[in-house]
Amino acid sequence: MPLRYHYLTRLGIIGGGQLAKMMALKARAMGFHISILDPSPHAPAALLADRHVLGGYHDPRKLRELVDACDITTYDLENIDAETLLALEKGGHRIAPSAQTLQIIQDKLTQKQTLADQGIPVPRFVEVDTLDEATAKAFGYPLVQKLRKGGYDGRGVAVLQTPDDLANKLEGPSMMEELVDIDKELAVMVARSKSGHIKCHPLVEMVFDPIANICDVVMAPALVDKKHEQEALAIASSAIEALDGVGIFGVELFLTTEGKILLNEIAPRTHNSGHYTIEACITDQFEQHLRAIMDLPLGATDLLIPAVMVNLLGSTGGQGTPEIQGMRKAMDIPGLSFHLYGKAETRPFRKMGHFTVIDRDVHQARTKAQTARQLLKVVAIQPTEET
Ligand SMILES: Nc1ncnc2c1ncn2[C@@H]1O[C@H](COP(=O)(O)OP(=O)(O)OP(=O)(O)O)[C@@H](O)[C@H]1O
Ligand SMILES: [Mg+2]
Repeated sequence: MPLRYHYLTRLGIIGGGQLAKMMALKARAMGFHISILDPSPHAPAALLADRHVLGGYHDPRKLRELVDACDITTYDLENIDAETLLALEKGGHRIAPSAQTLQIIQDKLTQKQTLADQGIPVPRFVEVDTLDEATAKAFGYPLVQKLRKGGYDGRGVAVLQTPDDLANKLEGPSMMEELVDIDKELAVMVARSKSGHIKCHPLVEMVFDPIANICDVVMAPALVDKKHEQEALAIASSAIEALDGVGIFGVELFLTTEGKILLNEIAPRTHNSGHYTIEACITDQFEQHLRAIMDLPLGATDLLIPAVMVNLLGSTGGQGTPEIQGMRKAMDIPGLSFHLYGKAETRPFRKMGHFTVIDRDVHQARTKAQTARQLLKVVAIQPTEET
């Protein structure tokens, strides 16, 4: 008799980027059957999936094709046609986080309103239809303009210090926020299962590249006092409850120079600031997400050892086939793990991979990470032709 293999569950992932790739690695180990939806045949997760539906995240037909063939569907990005997901849910399909949670989060304004209504501390904000001299002045400088939808990696965010900066304003439905005096940017992965159990991973510190405005280094644990740590974890957990979130969520927070904790934004998915969990925690963010959406008991989140994660961004030289320089020397650093996402093309500041350094001493981990960062470069060889 031929052997029959029984999958744990047929898992669908909308999006086939690096987050889907790392989730698929874990899902494979756990015995899921994996389908992805991504428009690119070369998507990083494609080689790990059992099935690849080629199509866009806003194509109702393709979304339906994926969801129809799966027991449960999740996603690795938030820029998805949520209306179609709502309809699919109504038809009895399981989607996690829910289409409603996704819809609230997709729009930075409704996200902030929902959180503020539930008493979660956030920076002062207002909706703005047309950002002009009068509306900006009435709100007060310095301010931050944020596009309500579609922004990522800082691309939908503009800082306006004075009226002169109105020349740099963004076009599209937006919100304005007070410019917070930030002492530290913090983040935490919060998992909530379908039956409402919540577990947080450790609080981490994020350091931003001022030019790319992209989170470039993540340090675990965050070096903040116990009081702020507990406050941040409590705020983040309440926020996920307020959104009725199921799955894992990346929650970004500010510690202000006045010592207040404010929530900045939430990603309804695994998150760059949680990559360190792969090497440093008992349960990593990808397994935790799968546990949460399957309503299995959540795993232990203890930090086994301090860690520093650094994003490997495409060098500014140009775009084309990527080549990694400095691997040999970097891999000689004790405690360094290297992740390359398998993207066919590098571009300036594109997230091409990351590395994590673990060390019993977080300062040592930082020093080693600095050294590796100087060594490792992702450069373009064979430039791609302009289209
Ligand atoms: N109200 C604020 N006051 C001060 N700085 C802010 C404020 N809002 C955002 N920023 C800065 O801009 C960065 C990007 O903002 P935000 O996280 O809202 O945008 P994003 O494009 O969704 O970012 P990403 O995709 O990188 O998480 C923040 O990490 C922070 O450094
Ligand atoms: Mg952000």
